[in-house]
Amino acid sequence: MFMENKKFNSKRSVSLLMTVVIIFGMFFAVPVLAADSNPSLADIYKDSFLLGNIISPNQLDAETTNMFNQHYNVVTAENHMKPNMISNAKGVYNFSSADAIINWAQNNGIKVHGHTLVWHSQSPNWLYRNQDNTPLTRSEARQNMQEYINRVAGYFAGKVISWDVVNEAFEGGSLPVTDWKTVTRSNSPWYIAYANGADTSKGESGADYIYDAFVFARQADPNAILEYNDFNETDAWKREAMAMMVEDLNEKWLNDPRNTDPGRKLIERIGMQSHHYTQYPPVSWVEASIQRFIEAGVTISVSELDVGYGRHNGPTNRTLTYEQQVEQAIYYARLFEMYKAYDAHIERVTLWGQNDARSWRADYSPLLFDREFAEKEAYYAVLDPSGYLMKNGLTPRSLYDLTISTDTDTIVAGLPANIIVNANAADIGDYKVVAYLDKDGKKYSDEFQLVNGTTRLTIPNAPEAGQYRIVVNAYTGSTLFASKAIPLTITEDSSEKDYTITTTYQPSVLTADKMFTAQVNVTRHKGEDVPVLVIVALFDRDERMINVSYISKDIEVGDTERLNAGFMLPVDIEGHKVRIFVWDGIDLENSDMRPLSDVVTVQ
Ligand code: G3I
Repeated sequence: MFMENKKFNSKRSVSLLMTVVIIFGMFFAVPVLAADSNPSLADIYKDSFLLGNIISPNQLDAETTNMFNQHYNVVTAENHMKPNMISNAKGVYNFSSADAIINWAQNNGIKVHGHTLVWHSQSPNWLYRNQDNTPLTRSEARQNMQEYINRVAGYFAGKVISWDVVNEAFEGGSLPVTDWKTVTRSNSPWYIAYANGADTSKGESGADYIYDAFVFARQADPNAILEYNDFNETDAWKREAMAMMVEDLNEKWLNDPRNTDPGRKLIERIGMQSHHYTQYPPVSWVEASIQRFIEAGVTISVSELDVGYGRHNGPTNRTLTYEQQVEQAIYYARLFEMYKAYDAHIERVTLWGQNDARSWRADYSPLLFDREFAEKEAYYAVLDPSGYLMKNGLTPRSLYDLTISTDTDTIVAGLPANIIVNANAADIGDYKVVAYLDKDGKKYSDEFQLVNGTTRLTIPNAPEAGQYRIVVNAYTGSTLFASKAIPLTITEDSSEKDYTITTTYQPSVLTADKMFTAQVNVTRHKGEDVPVLVIVALFDRDERMINVSYISKDIEVGDTERLNAGFMLPVDIEGHKVRIFVWDGIDLENSDMRPLSDVVTVQ
């Protein structure tokens, strides 16, 4: 390193050193985050929600068990905890099938969700009808319900984490929903019995069985989370009716003398069955329901998820072509990237079937595994929703959520710029996010990494006036995941220039084992008699600064000075760069120096 310096004091020497450190810092390489590639679905979502599937007693074989152990941490009995499977006559209870499932789950460390206590379907007549099929009275049905729930929820207490207390209580409706009770399923045998003897003058109705069911369940198993479970929960009227019912009954519970824990809601969760098709409903409707249920003050479980190919009553597809699989997988990917965005409110996602053969909608091939248990495209989509969408040329949700703002709209050509960039995405934490200044696809600054959604773009010397953009790129590993830009104007510097600078150097292409010399001519037009600093620095292919030479000179107004700096280039020069910086030394002592010219980079 050589140096030419007339007036060089120690204070300035410290500042110069700091400058070198600052410039060095600007070129530090950014660490790349490693991607997780664990193929277990439950593992992938372990920080978000439980992931489950259904089972029947005749499926408790090694193959199914292995599959559960790999992919699921919660199970729902597809049919064997429904009332008709447990009690076919008053006072008669048979828990053997349910016990088999629960023992199997416990042996394999799998949690159990209870499905279901009160339903209009798959339930024995004795609960709500006489032997001649006439409805019981309101009080008789109520007594049977209490007896059944006491017995069943009491029996399973400590063995289930949650219950679908009431299943599918709504029927048909339309907006606006003024009273949720008017759109309940009035042909439900529970409704009919509860209407039989209801005192309408006191506001009693057939729909009152719903509240009773939740209260009896709370009393029978105070530790279980109580859920209301329904399908077509994305229909606007039904979304509203479900939310209104939950709000209303939870309000009622607040003033119920049987409520011993006023801080706890009676209905704590809504089960969104989620029996979707690739053509219906749009995922945005699912999101709208999630938002409405959150507003109603409850958490959510996606309780019976499957996505049939096509549409309800449409052509059947018992096997899917690759293209059909991809179409279905994209729907699953959209669902799961959205679930992840709401994972603070979603406690469980349960798929309704282990493979396309074991499905109540086998005709529509709705699940993640095919009839031979082989992974379908949908499986890969659930494993990595955003990655799957990008692989198929689609924009992941995080891009839509990526919003950028800066603390400045314009900067001035030739002057240093400090731009604070804020970029927020729903799940930015998983990605490496960088920002830089761009014009017509060309970079005009280094890339600055965002930490907690913020970065400072330090541009030593803003380029010429024009319309630029601040680009924000999000990466997973080294793959570009999302990119967004906002405009930024660079304006002319209207003030008269303090200096004119011309830079020449040789050689123009770096040559191994040769001297590199930069010559900087600086003419001061106005300002103070202070030094100008020229730094010439050599960077290796990893952007580490490996050699530096600097020179400082006072330049009086009207004078032109020539500053030379340089060094020997190494033998191995491939990929190296020399950068020449010219700085005005006015604020030398604060290390806050004003760059005078573009940084010149020599390859
Ligand atoms: O067990 C009998 C068997 O003995 C008989 O030979 C056979 C003849 O069809 O029927 C068997 O019962 C069937 C049962 O599944 C067990 O396979 C019933 O007919 C059949 O109706 C029943 O279907 C179940 C359906 O609920 C009943 O509503 C499906 O498996 C089950 O996936 C489905 O699950 C429901 C949820 O509980 C609530 N939400 C909707 C969801 C899908 O419909």
